[in-house]
Amino acid sequence: MAETNIDAAIADAMIRVTEAAAIAAHQLTGRGDEMKADQAAVDAMRTGLNAVPMRGRIVIGEGERDEAPMLYIGEDVGTGEGPEIDIALDPLEGTTLTAKAMSNALSVLAIAPRGTLLHSPDVYMEKIAVGPGLPQGIVTLAATPAENVLALAKEKDVPPEHITVCVLDRPRHHEIISSLRSVGAKVAMISDGDIAGVINTTDPSTGIDMYLGQGGAPEGVLAAAALKCIGGQFEARLVFRNDEEKQRARRVGIQNLNKIYSLDELVTSDTVFCATGVTKGGLLDGVVYGRGTVETETLIMTSSDHSVRRVRTRRPV
Ligand code: FBP
Repeated sequence: MAETNIDAAIADAMIRVTEAAAIAAHQLTGRGDEMKADQAAVDAMRTGLNAVPMRGRIVIGEGERDEAPMLYIGEDVGTGEGPEIDIALDPLEGTTLTAKAMSNALSVLAIAPRGTLLHSPDVYMEKIAVGPGLPQGIVTLAATPAENVLALAKEKDVPPEHITVCVLDRPRHHEIISSLRSVGAKVAMISDGDIAGVINTTDPSTGIDMYLGQGGAPEGVLAAAALKCIGGQFEARLVFRNDEEKQRARRVGIQNLNKIYSLDELVTSDTVFCATGVTKGGLLDGVVYGRGTVETETLIMTSSDHSVRRVRTRRPV
């Protein structure tokens, strides 16, 4: 395992970075303009990252250099002094949620020592996740959705009808949903935001036992970083829709296109995960304005000590 070179000051600096991005995106909530909201978050996150004393490099970002002028994969950020750090980020996770002023939009990033986060192309990823305290391998992408429900139900000593699986509400998931329901599982659909969907498996109060389905690969690496801190199991497999996407994977060094990645292969060292709520959701409160103030809630988690902190910040505007 690579030794962590992320000190507490840099971890704490990330709170200000996601806070700034969340506040910027929040100004565009309910305006029906996904791109503008995303751009506001990107601008604020980039400015924030460039103030941090580190030699940061984006490994999961807004896209490849030719398609994303800012926070593109490979972009160097930070002051240029300090530790070498890789950064996975999603300045606005839930662009549609923000544009429609719906719940659960977040601003998210994860940091880790150089070379320890999967350099994933921006393609889809099959994901399965469960919370902590279960035998390793209890669920796996190698099994069918129904088999995973039955295994989890048996381990939890409950009937399969008591297992709830979170799935993104997409036509591509019809088969998965049929398989889950065939053994009686409950399917909790979300319209967007599968990073929160995965994290919810770690909190019994959400009622979510498992996360399953295809979402963005960048969001998958970020969700894996979160589970590395908080505990739980996660597996992933990249999904390629055409040759161009396969080429993109090969360009970032991925040889085995069918590989099932474990959590520790997605994030090979210690990491810090940080998310600030943009709109109010189950995981985090959104940005709230008071009389002359703005308040945010941030989740900051560190894998080295498995610490989970919630930080509320109120500052004058
Ligand atoms: P955006 O913020 O980029 O809109 O992503 C939201 C999201 O729901 C992710 O949480 C998820 O991984 C992905 O989109 C799923 O992609 P698609 O909408 O193409 O099914």
